[in-house]
Amino acid sequence: MSVVAVANQKGGVGKTTTAVNLAAATAEMGRRTLVIDADAQANATSALGAQHASPRMYDVLLGEASLSDCIATTAWHNLDVAPSSMDLVAAEMELASRPEREYVLRRLLAEVAPRYELVLIDCGPSLGLMTLNALAAADGAIAPVQCEYLALEGLSALLETIRRVQTHVHPGLQLLGVVATMYDGRTRLSQDVAAQLQSHISSTFDTIIPRSIRLSEAPSHQRPIVDYAPTSRGAEAYRQLAGELLRRLAALPTSTIYRDSPVDGVRA
Ligand SMILES: Nc1ncnc2c1ncn2[C@@H]1O[C@H](COP(=O)(O)OP(=O)(O)O)[C@@H](O)[C@H]1O
Ligand SMILES: [Mg+2]
Repeated sequence: MSVVAVANQKGGVGKTTTAVNLAAATAEMGRRTLVIDADAQANATSALGAQHASPRMYDVLLGEASLSDCIATTAWHNLDVAPSSMDLVAAEMELASRPEREYVLRRLLAEVAPRYELVLIDCGPSLGLMTLNALAAADGAIAPVQCEYLALEGLSALLETIRRVQTHVHPGLQLLGVVATMYDGRTRLSQDVAAQLQSHISSTFDTIIPRSIRLSEAPSHQRPIVDYAPTSRGAEAYRQLAGELLRRLAALPTSTIYRDSPVDGVRA
């Protein structure tokens, strides 16, 4: 099982869109995929139609339910979700006083390692304890960056955070790549930001996610793009990104956190 955190402390850059649609694309490719909603806004939960599911990540993080009980199946083959809700903020505050508080999610994920090939964690717009848990539990991180003015500024804070997590919490954490999102080829700004990412950040994915009405509509229909508009440019882009991600994961050193058996489990 590989675990990937989709993170950027900026809001509205395409984290949830990327987590949900990448997951649906890998599920479509036959990979057993789990989305963990680690954002109290619970947008990934509702985008996958799981907003009424219970228990939720709040209960799991506080030890009141197991992760297995929390995981909900979706309408799509190979695609499950661990739903979240607004009370996740409270869970984050309650965890703050616990020992080993960064590793709560990592330990929980060991329990479901045999069931999934890929776990995508949708992080919220902060670098707080929940995001730290996601990074500590992840083999690697993907950072979506919107093709907009000042996009690169937020990125340096994220890269610095990843370095700090590597130093203090999880030396094996990889930056799997930066992905340019909401690209509008008609604007000079989009072209400039995408070109800057590709020239300054070597891990930038070749795939660029286009700005697309279909991508922004899909969540309100509670369907991922590969189902809502399967032949659209957005669907094609997320399939291509899924292929790139799986190739990068396959190239990682095998010393990842999770074995397939929960017994020889986690090395925290
Ligand atoms: N490629 C895209 N094209 C058009 N709209 C997009 C695209 N990616 C994201 N959006 C829209 O932009 C908003 C923010 O995206 P979202 O994925 O929720 O960002 P984040 O999770 O980083 O806050 C949402 O309304 C989403 O539907
Ligand atoms: Mg989001």
